[in-house]
Amino acid sequence: MLESVVALELPALLARRGPPTAKAIIAALKLDPHRGQKWLELLLHMGLLEPAPSRHPQPRYQAGPLMRALFYADGTPVWFYQDFLRYFNTVLNFDTVDVLRGASVPDIAYPPRTPAEVEALEGWMRTTAGETMETIERVVSLKGTQRLLDVAGGDGTMAVHYARRHPQLHVTVFNLPASAAMARRNVAKAGLSKRITVVEGDFRRDPLPRGYQMVQFSRVLADWPEDVCRLLLGKARASLSPGGRVVICEPLADDNPDLTLAWHFSYLPYDDFGARLYKPLAAYERMLQELGFHLLRVARKDRHGIHAVIVAQRPDASPAPSRRPALPATQRGGKRQ
Ligand SMILES: C[S@@+](CC[C@H](N)C(=O)[O-])C[C@H]1O[C@@H](n2cnc3c(N)ncnc32)[C@H](O)[C@@H]1O
Repeated sequence: MLESVVALELPALLARRGPPTAKAIIAALKLDPHRGQKWLELLLHMGLLEPAPSRHPQPRYQAGPLMRALFYADGTPVWFYQDFLRYFNTVLNFDTVDVLRGASVPDIAYPPRTPAEVEALEGWMRTTAGETMETIERVVSLKGTQRLLDVAGGDGTMAVHYARRHPQLHVTVFNLPASAAMARRNVAKAGLSKRITVVEGDFRRDPLPRGYQMVQFSRVLADWPEDVCRLLLGKARASLSPGGRVVICEPLADDNPDLTLAWHFSYLPYDDFGARLYKPLAAYERMLQELGFHLLRVARKDRHGIHAVIVAQRPDASPAPSRRPALPATQRGGKRQ
């Protein structure tokens, strides 16, 4: 249903025309009248459409709550959902049985390989960084932090924001070469080359730079299966000075069941993506605990976003991973960490 709404550009029609009647929608979209009527009923049922308040005898329709969440008032998809919709739309063109039996699918590579794919990923991240940073900053205070490592830190948008707000802060952005080059350009444009360092590398193969009070993973771990996440958190641990904090900002599977289902379904044909990429809170708690981190704070997603923020601390002593139990993950409110 969503795919047909996108393909027929119904949100744009509603934005242009104000609330139309069913007949007007069916005519404007060139639908078969009988099937079109049934389609509109389904859209109403799903909350993609809703009846508009009107004194006309014929009911009129407007964007329902679900459509308003997914599309801007002018009918274009909300930035945040554009890539979700793109992937979902692409996967609908495949026959699931063929896919399950190994049919080849057009190449979607992760991490992206061509300059256009890198630009598309980092552009999506840049446009949605603001709301993600707001979520992080509600939970994490950078006051007093001197050195922050932003692992897979996009095109440096977040590093520039943090450095501007916190004059004492030095940020290192670690990313693959093409994204690192974008970050270097953005940092230079912002005049922050002295306070933001960009390091190129592949976090699966290369060590992360060391000596940080904070290591951030924002929208990184939900792209990778648990074995890679454990490896990355282990590397983060080695990057942190004693007492340093790791900050994880990711969508949790248990907070976003519908999105998790749609996203994992979209990934089914793409072999670069593993299973269970959106993980429940318990998986992060277990990995952190196994690596000897102390859990300091868990802020579950609020109704505006999809991301939870998890803050954990590297203990002062004992560099070797331990089985020390983590604190219970119930600290939702409280001070910024
Ligand atoms: C979804 S984006 C998140 C970007 C940024 N952290 C943010 O929240 O805006 C994922 C990032 O992971 C980076 N990445 C993917 N695979 C990587 C790898 N093997 N090594 C280093 N970075 C990687 C990508 O280049 C991209 O910048």
